[in-house]
Amino acid sequence: MESGQNDYFVVKAKENGVHVIGLTRGADTRFHHTEKLDKGEVMIAQFTDHTSAVKIRGKAVVMTKYGTIETDA
Ligand code: TRP
Repeated sequence: MESGQNDYFVVKAKENGVHVIGLTRGADTRFHHTEKLDKGEVMIAQFTDHTSAVKIRGKAVVMTKYGTIETDA
């Protein structure tokens, strides 16, 4: 498995209805899973063989090994 592919990230929702959307790895980039978080809920997830990118909609705190980012939404 490639290095970095198994990194974890954390999303903490700052409002209801935050979406954490997983995008597929490989030539075909599409949404494969949407998880809806309500305010205060935390999702801990990994980048995997199936997931190479993640899109976050709504107000949230996102923590990765690169640092912590708050969405402006
Ligand atoms: N079945 C997905 C996978 O193994 C689960 C998953 C992992 C996921 N990381 C994610 C879904 C990030 C959404 C966002 O790749």
